[in-house]
Amino acid sequence: MRSHYCGDVNETLDGQTVTVAGWMHRRRDHGGVIFIDLRDREGLVQIVCNPEDEASFAIAERVRSEYVLEIEGTVRLRPSGSDNSDLKSGKIEIVAKRVEILNSAETPPFPLTEKADVNEDVRLRHRYIDLRRPEMQTKLRFRAKLTRYLRNFLDDNGFLDIETPILTKATPEGARDYLVPSRTHQGDFFALPQSPQLFKQLLMVAGMDRYYQIVRCFRDEDLRADRQPEFTQVDIETSFVEEEDLMGMMEEMIRGLFANTLEQDLPNPFPRMSYADAMTRYGSDKPDLRIDLELVEISDLMKDVDFKVFSGPANDDKGRVAALRVPGGSSLSRKAIDEYTKYVSIYGAKGLAYIKVNDLAAGSEGLQSPILKFLPDDVVADIMKRVEAQTGDLVFFGADSVNIVNEALGALRIKVAHDLGLVKEGWQPLWVVDFPMFDWDEKSNRWTALHHPFTAPREEDLGLLDTDPAKCLSRAYDMVLNGTELGGGSMRIHNADVQNKVFTLLGISQEEADDKFGFLLEALRFGCPPHGGLAFGLDRLAMLMTGSSSIREVMAFPKTQSASCLLTDAPSAVSEPQLKELNIRLRKAAVIAEPTAE
Ligand code: AMO
Ligand code: AMP
Repeated sequence: MRSHYCGDVNETLDGQTVTVAGWMHRRRDHGGVIFIDLRDREGLVQIVCNPEDEASFAIAERVRSEYVLEIEGTVRLRPSGSDNSDLKSGKIEIVAKRVEILNSAETPPFPLTEKADVNEDVRLRHRYIDLRRPEMQTKLRFRAKLTRYLRNFLDDNGFLDIETPILTKATPEGARDYLVPSRTHQGDFFALPQSPQLFKQLLMVAGMDRYYQIVRCFRDEDLRADRQPEFTQVDIETSFVEEEDLMGMMEEMIRGLFANTLEQDLPNPFPRMSYADAMTRYGSDKPDLRIDLELVEISDLMKDVDFKVFSGPANDDKGRVAALRVPGGSSLSRKAIDEYTKYVSIYGAKGLAYIKVNDLAAGSEGLQSPILKFLPDDVVADIMKRVEAQTGDLVFFGADSVNIVNEALGALRIKVAHDLGLVKEGWQPLWVVDFPMFDWDEKSNRWTALHHPFTAPREEDLGLLDTDPAKCLSRAYDMVLNGTELGGGSMRIHNADVQNKVFTLLGISQEEADDKFGFLLEALRFGCPPHGGLAFGLDRLAMLMTGSSSIREVMAFPKTQSASCLLTDAPSAVSEPQLKELNIRLRKAAVIAEPTAE
């Protein structure tokens, strides 16, 4: 139908006849001459329709936005001075000889011409139009380039692309399952995979040695800007490896990806940080190292002060008092500080004490704070020294349980840095390692797995499974980039006894373990090689690399914050006969609170 893409017609074709096809992007009537910008995947080209050519001119007069056209014409250089350097085809135009309307179009629900601020719901409802916008075309093309690079790397390194079931049994990754009722086994349900974790381990038992899959995963969890109910993992597993081998290879892949697609050099090797360090210094297991601000421990300085808000947590094993120095923060207004106080309350902080350092040399006279009266001068001086305060700074304080202080000050660190322009440009990858195996859940009074229950404990910590599970570290690693967890994985348990022991610690009875994971336990007894792997969140990678604010921007058909598809109106009711066939009777609809948007 066409000889060239619109965006590919350029000055090398001067004088030639071409046929292009695409959408009517913009039309301008210039005193008898009609200019049409025709758009396709590769860009725009300017078409000139002269009144002398009556037939095509008559059609050109009728076309409206987003009509689908086929145009044949002669390429010519634009008159001097009318080049458009923003367009690949900006040096030429096509003089139309034949204009054909392949299809008409209703007026689009939003304009595609300028960067209009269109409500996201409207964009999602008409996603096929939204995706025509050059910005979205560029993002999806970039995503395709990204997957192509990753596939090539993995293929070249001997990984086999193997598919695993979507209708399966629950794989615990910490979210709720999406369930699918079975018609042939009434009352039974499939679960959609939260990840292919167990199947990829079984593929190692099966001797496949190196596996990968670019695979859809499903998790029914509260959604955020970097979470969707169905998302894509680049899922990887290898046999006969140790963490160093795997982490090295994965680093090489990500470095190659950035060099190849963005011409960016990432550090070699990536820095590493222990989970304990990350939590103590950044209050987060995915620290954004573009921000220099750090949490500073001051519990020891607060043990004997009269101010109970600080001395309480300072003397409690599970408590923490920490400071966060904000360079130049003394100019923050009362109102700004009140807003930060409100912000940290989301994370459970009961307040947000601060000291403004107006003049460091003037001692306590030079400081300004509602809490100075509660603290002895020498303690205040020690704090200033420890946080390396300078005139013009502001120091925030958090005092509470370790979790609340870390979450509140960790989030504050990021917010303040963005507000005050303290986030450096560039890419800051790192590995977070030495995660604890278990996390104590106060609510249910039991251990939970920090990663998933198949993560191996460190060899030297095996004994701690019996004596002190809290201290037992795992062989897990997360790759973090600019404060986002890009991927995570671990060396796995390949011994049935150790796996059973971990299940027991997690409060999973033998009966439940057999019922849920019997197939895995059995496989482990049939010659399971040492193995490990990791999974990257492909959508998150694409989001970061395209500088998008949400993963919805790099997915063709994403779901809303409340996990629905505005385009197809899914999920939707099913017919009574369908339900009957599945032997399902619905209860009265429960009212579910809408999750809050991020
Ligand atoms: P994990 O649960 O850490 O590990 O997931 C791996 C990566 O997948 C991405 N991710 C998500 N992306 C978008 N929306 C979501 N709801 C979502 N949830 C996770 C993240 C995350 O780092 N089976 C293990 C991997 C392994 O051990 O090999 C797993 O799934 O980028
Ligand atoms: P109060 O004595 O409760 O008025 O608190 C005095 C100051 O300490 C105020 O600036 C509070 O915001 C702050 N504050 C109270 N509780 C905490 C806390 N848990 N962590 C940090 N600061 C707090």
